[in-house]
Amino acid sequence: MSANPIPVIAIDGPSASGKGTVAQLVAEKLGFHYLDSGALYRIVAFAAQQNNIAWSHAEALGKLAESLQIRFKEGEIYLNNALITEAVRSEEMSRGASEVAVHPQVRDALFALQQSFRQSPGLVADGRDMASVVFTDAKLKIFLTASVEVRAERRYKQLIGKGLAADYAQILRDLQQRDLRDSQRSAAPLIQTPDAVLLDTTHRTIDQAVEFVLAAYKNIS
Ligand code: DC
Repeated sequence: MSANPIPVIAIDGPSASGKGTVAQLVAEKLGFHYLDSGALYRIVAFAAQQNNIAWSHAEALGKLAESLQIRFKEGEIYLNNALITEAVRSEEMSRGASEVAVHPQVRDALFALQQSFRQSPGLVADGRDMASVVFTDAKLKIFLTASVEVRAERRYKQLIGKGLAADYAQILRDLQQRDLRDSQRSAAPLIQTPDAVLLDTTHRTIDQAVEFVLAAYKNIS
């Protein structure tokens, strides 16, 4: 099999690390496509709730994930033509996504869909297993993280900024729980692959993180 010439930048990391924002900005700068793989797990959790399927029901979730009509357009997410962008961003769906993502049946059902985002001239993909499973041949692999306290603080400020109620201690507990579930599951756990570059944003701004990724990419191009 010949190597796929379309370059991929894989950005993996824990919840609320800012990897989505960084990945989107890098994609914009390079004129690349963007894949928010976490959104796919969120959509599965959301659709499961709508269809009264428990987040623990691996077989039914796998079948559901295969049947979904998902569309990303201009920053919005559509499921079976309904706009669900805000609905899947809720804290409840953050937890649901982390729960449905432990099942290999769900991961397998989403595998080909994720790979189909690899389109010319290139792709920036963010998630947990972009480097380790979905795009193992990525040209650049970044492991983007920050301390759990800083991540909780950023999420807290984000919610307050939107005029929503937020409880810092609760957010911190939820993040710790999700970190544990995402990194300790047996199917495609969150790991830094040996060939990934570590980008710790605890003391970096979004712009600095974007510059870091662009410089690393330029270095190898
Ligand atoms: O990146 P995010 O917070 O939107 O992801 C939500 C959940 O989805 C996360 O807790 C774990 C799961 N996920 C995953 O298992 N694999 C990915 N590639 C992306 C997300």
